[in-house]
Amino acid sequence: MQNRLGSGKFGPGRFGALPPSPFAQLRALLDDVTPSQEPLSLAIGEPRHAPPSAVLEVLSAARDSYAKYPPIGGTPEWRQAVIGWLSRRFDLSDALFEETTQILPVNGTREGLFMAAQIAPQKADGVMLIPNPFYQVYAAAALAAGANPVYLPATPATGHLPDLDALDDSLLARTQAFYFCSPANPQGAVADASYLARLLELARAHNFLLVVDECYSEIYDHTPPPSALQLMQAAGDNEMPLVVFHSLSKRSNLPGLRSGFCAGGRSVMRALAALRAIAGPQSPLAVQEAAALAWSDDAHVQESRQKYGEKFAAAETLFAGCYDFYRPAGGFFLWLNVGDGEAAARHLWVTQGVRVLPGTYLARDDAGGDNPASSYIRVALVDEQETMTVALKRLKDGLGSFNPAAVGAD
Ligand SMILES: Cc1ncc(COP(=O)(O)O)c(C=O)c1O
Repeated sequence: MQNRLGSGKFGPGRFGALPPSPFAQLRALLDDVTPSQEPLSLAIGEPRHAPPSAVLEVLSAARDSYAKYPPIGGTPEWRQAVIGWLSRRFDLSDALFEETTQILPVNGTREGLFMAAQIAPQKADGVMLIPNPFYQVYAAAALAAGANPVYLPATPATGHLPDLDALDDSLLARTQAFYFCSPANPQGAVADASYLARLLELARAHNFLLVVDECYSEIYDHTPPPSALQLMQAAGDNEMPLVVFHSLSKRSNLPGLRSGFCAGGRSVMRALAALRAIAGPQSPLAVQEAAALAWSDDAHVQESRQKYGEKFAAAETLFAGCYDFYRPAGGFFLWLNVGDGEAAARHLWVTQGVRVLPGTYLARDDAGGDNPASSYIRVALVDEQETMTVALKRLKDGLGSFNPAAVGAD
């Protein structure tokens, strides 16, 4: 899609180079066609397992709380619940977060990820490093902060994570922030502790902000992914140039709650708290109360993780050995190499009513003009097993009849 954001009267200013959202691009690709079968969407990363019912009850019982402005830094109960989870999940001590601003609520991590770039150190000819493919808000955040995004290949050749050895000192010297995601969306790659330590070392040596998006950290195959916060604890130094994001959207099947948090080094979080106190959206009290309950419970997360495991097992039976199928270490996406992602997405929609996301929409062209994700589709295994069984069977049939060499045949 050639469009860029806002070609109309109200121009996008520094956002002019951004393409529309992946889902707007998908609508443009597919919406002129009525599929021959009942539509099934595997395009959006929206968990459809049931959220914990106690959380929903808290929300409806908290009607009176809407008459008050909520505290931007979170309620003590919310903070305690988050600290409790950080301690159970990552063995982090609450001493690591001695200042209350070191943990802050966000209204969904997307807004927090956007705002984080705004407190990064300013540099001449500044850049922000972003894995390619990536979650799209990182690029908007960099541009809003007046920095140019620099996209780092995260392909099979690099183990689906940026190759840190390929970064030269002149680029690192201009780097204001590095956005990093583990488990990665879309590829599901997980950075181990030594990779994260290396990232932090680079951030300290080159004076940039490390932003680590750990939204999928509760959805993993075998091994719980580590957190960059553990490195801060291991170093015994809570003055790290780090901010980490976690969300209830994926963990607790609550994408509509818009609730997550960020936590990090003392000075970084002081700066972020100061900015949020002026410009940040407070998290409603009812949402904080519900979120405190969700962070305090692990049983529903375990149940969800098991369901994802079963769905990946079903997908493995169908796709092992085809389309470079692999079972990702984390997250809930299949990342399939189908030859031509856009053409395959259209073919799947037309012939099977199955909606998937072309990889192209999640990545930017490299210096040679090639999009590193153009041959891929992203398939979100978010529905319950029964629906997924139908959807995966249709996906298999659709890909079986797809010929990337005959693009345009539909
Ligand atoms: C990698 C990644 N980060 C962040 C988010 C944002 O999640 P939320 O704003 O719902 O917390 C998403 C949502 O799809 C995501 O895939």
